[in-house]
Parts: sequence; structure tokens; C-alpha cells
Amino acid sequence: MSLAAPRFGDQSKVTITSIQEKKQQGTAITCLTAYDYATARLVDQAAIDMILVGDSLAMVVLGYENTLPITVEEMLHHTRAVRRAVRRALVIADMPYASYVDEKQAVKNAARFLKDGGAEAVKIEGGQKRVPLVHSMLDAEVPVMGHIGLTPQSVHLMGGYRVQGKTLNAIERLVKDAVALDRAGVFALVLEGIPREVAKIITEEVECPTIGIGAGPNCDGQVLVFHDILNLTGQQPAKFVRQYADAAALISGAVSNFKADVEARLFPSDAESYHLPRETQAALETLRARKLAALR
Ligand code: KIV
Repeated sequence: MSLAAPRFGDQSKVTITSIQEKKQQGTAITCLTAYDYATARLVDQAAIDMILVGDSLAMVVLGYENTLPITVEEMLHHTRAVRRAVRRALVIADMPYASYVDEKQAVKNAARFLKDGGAEAVKIEGGQKRVPLVHSMLDAEVPVMGHIGLTPQSVHLMGGYRVQGKTLNAIERLVKDAVALDRAGVFALVLEGIPREVAKIITEEVECPTIGIGAGPNCDGQVLVFHDILNLTGQQPAKFVRQYADAAALISGAVSNFKADVEARLFPSDAESYHLPRETQAALETLRARKLAALR
């Protein structure tokens, strides 16, 4: 399998180290999801720092109700497509639900994302209980991004997609989770769906960069779902989403125009058609004339 590997020594290539340096320099870190070759290429060309092949693809690309059904094989398939497109950004693969329950299997699955998928790190959801797993993954040379707060894989436990960390007990738990993961060695930490005040405390408490989604402006970086910023989900966006373009309107318009042109026989035009070379056309006309004459 040929995967476009990051070039060693290329200064512009985003690495775990350059992401961590950004926190130290106070430079904001950018991250978007991508799930296929065409869109990952655009995100990379826009110089976004990190591309997350998020398991949100289960919902926004595959049409599932939540992220739970997606498998390691499906995530690998999309990670490879993204890898083939990306030259500069750091590529992170999301480990799907139930793929990191058993620790041995989890490390094997994680290594597959690097070995077969071309990812440079994996992301796992959960707090203090993931510390032993983070150690095992680092032992296997797999960089890990943590993810706490509103963790979509726990949708049933949380009783829906609810903002987390709103009581003093919950805040204390979240800060302990963040500190434990940071000490265990995660290279970055996604903070999802928590009050901005709590995200600020965590960002100040941990050494690793925090990447917020619905966690306010005081995180070290921000991540959003590609389909959300382009109005491609067909759903009312969450409060924290900013839509930067209406790709749904653009695509619907283009598709309707195609239909109208075909039905009106305006597509394809002569300029959009292939033509025979002049000599072949002449020979063909002679042949057809002879055949018609023979039939008379
Ligand atoms: O799956 C995903 O897209 C994510 C981000 C929202 C952080 O986990």
C-alpha cells in the first residue's frame, strides 16, 4: 500500500512537537475534521494544523443516528483516503466506540491506524480511567489525543448530548480528568461541550494544548466538524457552530441546473462532445452512402 508519508525534516510539516510549541508561544491551533480525499486536500491546502478523521463521520457522512455503529475497518478506510490527500497537517484518527475497551486489543487497533491508515496519532474519549491505556499506547509509540467533557460515545450514559461540567462536583471531576490525562502523556486534549470558564481553568492547569469544541475561546485551539461549518448536515447547527459557507445551497443549485439543462437538451453542448478526426468522418460518410446505395 502506498501512503503519502510525512517528509522527515520538512519544516512546514505539522508535528506533535510543533503543536505543543504553539501552546508555549500562545499561537492558536486550528483543527477540522475531514473524512475523504477531496475535502482533506482542501483542508490541508488551507494550512489547517490538524485534521481529525472523527467518528462523527458515522453521522455526517454515513447517516447513522449517533457515532456508535462505526467500526475500526470503516474508520481505517476513511483515514487512508485522508492520508493520501494530506501533506502538511497532522492526521489524527478517532478510535471508534468499543475499539479500546480491552487494553491489548486497543493498542493493536491503535497501531493499525498508524501502520495501515497512515495516521500520526489517535484520539480516545474518557478521563482518568483511560490513564493506563494512554501509558500502553505510548509504550507502543502511538501518540494519543484525549477527549473529555461531552463525549459522544457516552451518549446513552450522559442521557443525550448535554453540556458537561456545570456543577462544582462535575467541574472538579473534569479538572482531575484533564490533569490525569496530561500527566499520562496525551499530546493534546479535546474539550467538548463545557462552560468556557471550566475550559479556561483546564487550559491553565495542563501542559498539553487544549482544543475546544463548544468550550469557549480560552482553549489553546479550536476544532469543528467540516460538514457543520459548510451547512452540509441537513440539521440545525449547535450553538457553538459557526457556518462559514452554505455548501448545501451551492450543491443544490448546481444539481438543479444540471437536471434542467439535461431535460432541456442544453447539455452537453458541441464543445463538451468528442469529435471524430476529419478523415475518419469523411470515410465513415462514404461507407454509409455505399451501404445505403447497395440497399436500394
Ligand atoms: O468525531 C469528531 O468529529 C470529534 C470532534 C467533534 C472533536 O470527536
